[in-house]
Order: sequence, then structure tokens, then C-alpha cells
Amino acid sequence: MTSIKIFCPATIANLNCGFDVLGLCLESIGDEIIIRKSVNKCVKITNIVGANLPFEIENNVAGVAALAIFEEANKRVAFEHGFEIEIFKKIKAGSGIGSSSASAAGAVFGINELLGKPFSKIELVKFAMKGEVVASGSEHADNVAPCLLGGFTLVRGYNPLDVIKIESPSELYAVVLHPHIEVKTADARSVLQPMISLQNAIIQTGNIGGLVAGLFMSDYELISRSLHDVIIEPLRKHLIPNFDEVKDVALKNGALGAGISGAGPSIFALCKGKESAQKIALSMENMYQNTEINFDIHISKINPKGVEVISINEL
Ligand code: HSE
Repeated sequence: MTSIKIFCPATIANLNCGFDVLGLCLESIGDEIIIRKSVNKCVKITNIVGANLPFEIENNVAGVAALAIFEEANKRVAFEHGFEIEIFKKIKAGSGIGSSSASAAGAVFGINELLGKPFSKIELVKFAMKGEVVASGSEHADNVAPCLLGGFTLVRGYNPLDVIKIESPSELYAVVLHPHIEVKTADARSVLQPMISLQNAIIQTGNIGGLVAGLFMSDYELISRSLHDVIIEPLRKHLIPNFDEVKDVALKNGALGAGISGAGPSIFALCKGKESAQKIALSMENMYQNTEINFDIHISKINPKGVEVISINEL
């Protein structure tokens, strides 16, 4: 195997109550990455299409993540070649659906495949999250984990890293409205407070437990009761024009819950069934058409597989 083309799906992080610990994987929206074995024993980005991103390895999320797996693999496996990476960006940077994570996850997944899979998908999370530091200044895994593993993921702990995959209930759909403004994750993190009240900690931990239990039991009512955020959303929602109105209209039209996707500006709603998702998407779309801001809207099932191979090239 000399080169491989990878689909790197978009993701929704946080899911209201699970800041930095919960995420889900979307279908059909995603970047593509080609990784090629090269003669020189180093990692190089040779092509970036669809975004103005740095080619220097240390300034590029995919580059940093690729270097992390490359260096660790070097200690374990004897190989005498390097890797060239081509990135085809389809997810806009600063959109809130895991743009940086998709590239980072795709790069580590592709390199691992070309090396003969020395690492499991769960082990790849720690390499991919290194890339997040470039984008947001912190190593959070709530986008890279669902991108790599598919379904829902819970980061039970960061030190040591402990990631759990949760299968999605079969009728769950996500609607994502992406206003065409950029919110940098680092900026959205800078508005947060380092301390929270005991009262809010109790509410939030109850909801995380409820959401995880609801997913395992396919209990849509419990999922709905748990999709609340008393800590992060109140501090961030002013970054997203008409956030409250979009959320209200989604809930009024039957969404199980709605909130900020990752660090925003995308707004997501979770819905039971395709028809319900279509009705909710239409209501969100009608509402946002009253604003001056361009947007796009997606309806997606939860992607059970995560990052995957599109094609393999053998010479
Ligand atoms: N958990 C991260 C944040 C996700 O909300 O800052 C960023 O995509």
C-alpha cells in the first residue's frame, strides 16, 4: 500500500452538558485527506485545497498530529520512509463542527493504515488531539474521538486518557445550522470562567449521566431531559447571532434538545426520526432567513463508523 484516501467526518462536540467530554460523529460532511509514503523519512504537507492553512508541519493541526504518531511509531516499528499529506478541506475552519479535528484525525488514521495498523483507533485519539493545541490552545478530545471512532464518545478522563464509544440509538438525527461567520475556538474558550458553582456542577453532572444513560437505553425522553447546559452556553451564546431564537424554534418544533455545536457558531438540534428532523431543519432555516447572515443547514444520521478509507493505491 503506497497511498490512501481518507474520509474525515465532521463532529458535534459538547452536546450541551458534556463540555470537552462528549461528542458525536456526522455523516456525509467531512474533509478528505490523501497520505502517501515518501522516500525521505519525514512528514510533509504537499497540498492544501479549499482553505488557506499553513504548510509548516508545526503550525498545521494535521501536521502536528501526523508528527506525533510518526515519532511514536518510529519507536515501535522499523520503517525507512516518510509521509506526504494532501488536505482537501470541505469543513470550514471556525464553523463549530470539528474542522481542525477532522484533518488531525484523518492524518493519524491514514498514517496508521499505511504502517499496517500498529495502533488501535482508540490509541489514535491521543495523537490526533495534539493537533487541537494548534487550533484552540488545548488538547481536548471531544471532536477527534467521535471523528475516529464514530457514534457518540465520552472522554471519561484525560489523565490518563480514557475514551468510551457509545452506539447511537437508531432513530437519532442531528440538524446543524452553520451561520457563515467564524468563531475561533480559542476566542470561544477565552470567554469561559475557570470556576463554577456547586449548584451548577450538580445540574451539569446529573445531565451528563442522564444523557449517557439515555443513549445506552435508547430512551429519547431521557435524552431530551438531559440536553441542557447551565455552564458554557450562557457564556458563549452572545457570540452567535440569534442563537436563542434558533434554539427556541427547534424546541417548539419537536427537537429533543438544541445548543451550540462545539465552540460555535454552528447550532445543532437532536431529533427523533427523519421526518421530525426535516420539520425542525425547515423551522430553523425559516427563522435564520430573517437574519442578514448567510448559512447552510445539514440533516445527518449519527455516523456509526467515523473516519474511513475511501480508496487505496498500490504500486
Ligand atoms: N469542547 C471544545 C470547546 C470543542 O467547546 O471549546 C471545540 O470544538
